[in-house]
Amino acid sequence: MTPILLLGAGRMGSALIAGWEAAGAFAPSELMVRDPHPSADLIAQSLALNPPDEDLSRAKTVLLAVKPQLWRQAAAEVSALLAPDAVIVSIAAGVSSHDIAEAFGGRRVARVMPTTAVAIRRGTASIYSPDPLARARAHALFAPVAQVVDLEDEELMHAATAVSGSGPAYLYAFVEALEAAGLKAGLDAEAAARLARSTVIGAAALLEQGGEPAELRRQVTSPGGTTQAALEVLIGQGALVDLMVGSVAAAIARSRELGG
Ligand SMILES: NC(=O)c1ccc[n+]([C@@H]2O[C@H](COP(=O)([O-])OP(=O)(O)OC[C@H]3O[C@@H](n4cnc5c(N)ncnc54)[C@H](OP(=O)(O)O)[C@@H]3O)[C@@H](O)[C@H]2O)c1
Repeated sequence: MTPILLLGAGRMGSALIAGWEAAGAFAPSELMVRDPHPSADLIAQSLALNPPDEDLSRAKTVLLAVKPQLWRQAAAEVSALLAPDAVIVSIAAGVSSHDIAEAFGGRRVARVMPTTAVAIRRGTASIYSPDPLARARAHALFAPVAQVVDLEDEELMHAATAVSGSGPAYLYAFVEALEAAGLKAGLDAEAAARLARSTVIGAAALLEQGGEPAELRRQVTSPGGTTQAALEVLIGQGALVDLMVGSVAAAIARSRELGG
């Protein structure tokens, strides 16, 4: 499945390269990268950066990792240079496997929606492909750095994008809001930041040990206590659920627009 050609190595492409290195999954010598403005970090690595056009036909797997708005241009630049049996794995939000296959001359396609925690091998990757070989290829790319969730219906990639691809930003926004509330309650900036961040990280670690979130919540909510008072505001009358449903719906709508 190598060499792997990355079309674009910005935030997500670079996160993947870091994760693969940490996992020992693919050596830099198995990677080729095309990116008009590579970062200093990328330049320092011993991978093939912006290789000559004639080398692109060696790529067995092509990871499409440019912004969704730029994907057609990136495809048009390389499609004619790739081997007919190169497999295309796209992480572009919203863009359908049908459109990608068409732009890449009918080659096999898989779609993946990853999270940036692939950089530390703690990513999450939703995978869809109508083609078993392409799906297996996407698994091989992401399983070393992520928990992989297979989706059987391409429509659900919009939901996976909204829940998982965009999800880390929701948690960071929550931590920012908790810090802001701590400041407003009189804590100094350092104390508010340390309390909010450490509390969230510890709670997530307990969740990782296999607890059900509702049960973990009940364990720290004494009847009539402080947590219950807060939760009546946070989740009372479906407040937080309504907010999340509305947020996810907005992300799904944008994912559909990006797919155009
Ligand atoms: N970031 C996330 O958390 C996340 C999560 C899930 C999925 N994704 C998906 O991952 C994809 C990339 O997102 P990103 O955040 O990594 O974007 P990004 O940081 O902008 O990285 C994209 C890279 O591609 C380069 N590029 C632009 N045109 C190109 C071309 N024609 N050929 C090759 N490279 C080209 C860009 O260079 P310039 O900057 O010079 O234009 C940039 O370095 C998106 O489709 C997004 O939907 C991202």
